[in-house]
Amino acid sequence: MEPKIEELKAKLKKYGQEHLLNGYDKLDDKHKHELIKQIEDIDFELINKLYEDTKKKPKTNEDKITPIEYLDKYKLGDKYKYYENIGKKAIKEGKLAAVTMAGGQGTRLGHTGPKGTFDIGLDSHKSLFELLCDNLKEEGKKYDVIIPWFIMTSRENNAATIEFFEKHKYFGYQKDKNLFFFEQGELPMVDTEGKILIGEDGLIKEAADGHGGIYESLVKSGMTKRMRNMGIEWVFIGGVDNCLVKMVDPVLMGIAIDKNVTVACKSVVKANPHEKVGVFCKRNGRPNVIEYSEITDEMAEARDEDGELLYGESHILCNLFKVDAIERMGAEPLPYHVAFKKAKYIDKDGKLVVPDSPNAYKFEAFLFDAFGEVDEMAILRVKREEEFAPVKNADSAGVDCPSTARELYKNFKLKNK
Ligand code: UD1
Repeated sequence: MEPKIEELKAKLKKYGQEHLLNGYDKLDDKHKHELIKQIEDIDFELINKLYEDTKKKPKTNEDKITPIEYLDKYKLGDKYKYYENIGKKAIKEGKLAAVTMAGGQGTRLGHTGPKGTFDIGLDSHKSLFELLCDNLKEEGKKYDVIIPWFIMTSRENNAATIEFFEKHKYFGYQKDKNLFFFEQGELPMVDTEGKILIGEDGLIKEAADGHGGIYESLVKSGMTKRMRNMGIEWVFIGGVDNCLVKMVDPVLMGIAIDKNVTVACKSVVKANPHEKVGVFCKRNGRPNVIEYSEITDEMAEARDEDGELLYGESHILCNLFKVDAIERMGAEPLPYHVAFKKAKYIDKDGKLVVPDSPNAYKFEAFLFDAFGEVDEMAILRVKREEEFAPVKNADSAGVDCPSTARELYKNFKLKNK
C-alpha cells in the first residue's frame, strides 16, 4: 500500500489537493481502500477546469434560441392509428425497454431514502417505484411482452434501492433477467478555494453528476451492450418522480420510426409562463431545452398569433432514444452546470464544519444538453392530466407535491377504469 500512497501524494501535490490524505491513517482498512480508489478515479484536470470556470463571469448568452415544431397527439387525425400500428408492432417484437432515473434522494420531499421508495399517500400506499412498475406490467400485457426495466441509482442510494426491491420481491420482475440496476457517476464537491471536500466518513465528498451522466453510465455499465443482445432498439428514459409517466407509448414510437429520428420526446403545454419546467426549443438551429432558470421573462411570456406560448412545450423528462443515439451521446462529454450548495465537511484539522450558508460547488450535467447531437427530433404534445404528475416538493409548497400528484393520479385512474 505504501508505495501507492507516495505516488498518490505526488499526484495530489501537483493539483494542490494534498489535504485529501490528512485523515488517511485514522481510517479503517475498508475506508482506506475506498479513499484510494476515489483518488485514483478523480479526473483532477477536469475538476480544476470546472473550478476555474466558476470564477469566470457568465458569458452573455449569444445562442440563437427559436421555437421548435411539435405534433399534438390528439390532432393527428388518421395518422394516429398509422403511427400507433408501427409502434405496436415494434413493441410486440420486444424492441422497447424502459429506463428510470432514480439517482436522487427525496430530500426536497423531506423523505429519507431513495426517492422511488416514497409513498405519495394513496390508499394502497404504493411507492413511486411500484406505481411505475404497475404501469409497465399493465402495458407489457397488452403486447404480450415483459418490458425490460433498467433503473439508474447512485452510490448514495444503490444498496437501499436494491434492498427495497428485494423486500418487495422485485414487484414480480426478475432481477438480471428483465430488471437491471446500474449506478450513475459522481463528481467531487469543491470549496470556494477549489479544494475538494472530505465528508464526515473521511472519504471524498462526492455528489451525483446529474442525469446527463446517464448516457455514459448506460454504456460504461454494459447496459447498452446488454440491450443490443436482448434485441432492444428503443429506450424510453423517464424520471422516477412522475407517477403518471407513460413509458410505453406506441404512438411516440411509431412517429420516431416513421420519421426516422433517433430521439423523440413528449411535452405538455406549460401551465403558465413561469412554471418551473424546461421548454423545448432550437438552439442555434438544433433541438434543445431551455431550463426554467435560464429563460428570460420576455421569452417565457412571448405568444404566437393564436395566443399560444411560443416556448410552451414543457420538457417532462419523457424521452425515447434509439440505442445507438445513447451510445453516441455517451461518447461525447456534456457541459457541466454548477450549483452552489451547503455541504458539511471535515476541515484540515480534522474538525467537522456545518455551514449555515452555501460553501461548495456541485457539478451536474443535464440529459437534454445532448439533444443538440441530433439534427432533428420529434416532439409529441400529450395531455398533462394523462402523463405528468410530478412529485418534487413537500406539500407545503402547494405545487408538484404529493397531494397534487395524488389527485392527478386518482383522477386519471377513475377516468381510465
Ligand atoms: C427537471 C428538468 C426540467 C423538467 C422537469 C420536469 C433538469 C435539470 N430539469 O427539473 O427540464 O421540466 O424536471 O419534471 O433535470 N436524477 C437522477 N440523478 C441526478 C439528478 C436527477 O437520477 O443526478 C433524476 C431524479 O431522481 C428525477 C429526475 O432526474 O427523477 C429529475 O431531476 P430533478 O433534479 O428533480 O429535476 P428538476 O429540477 O425537477
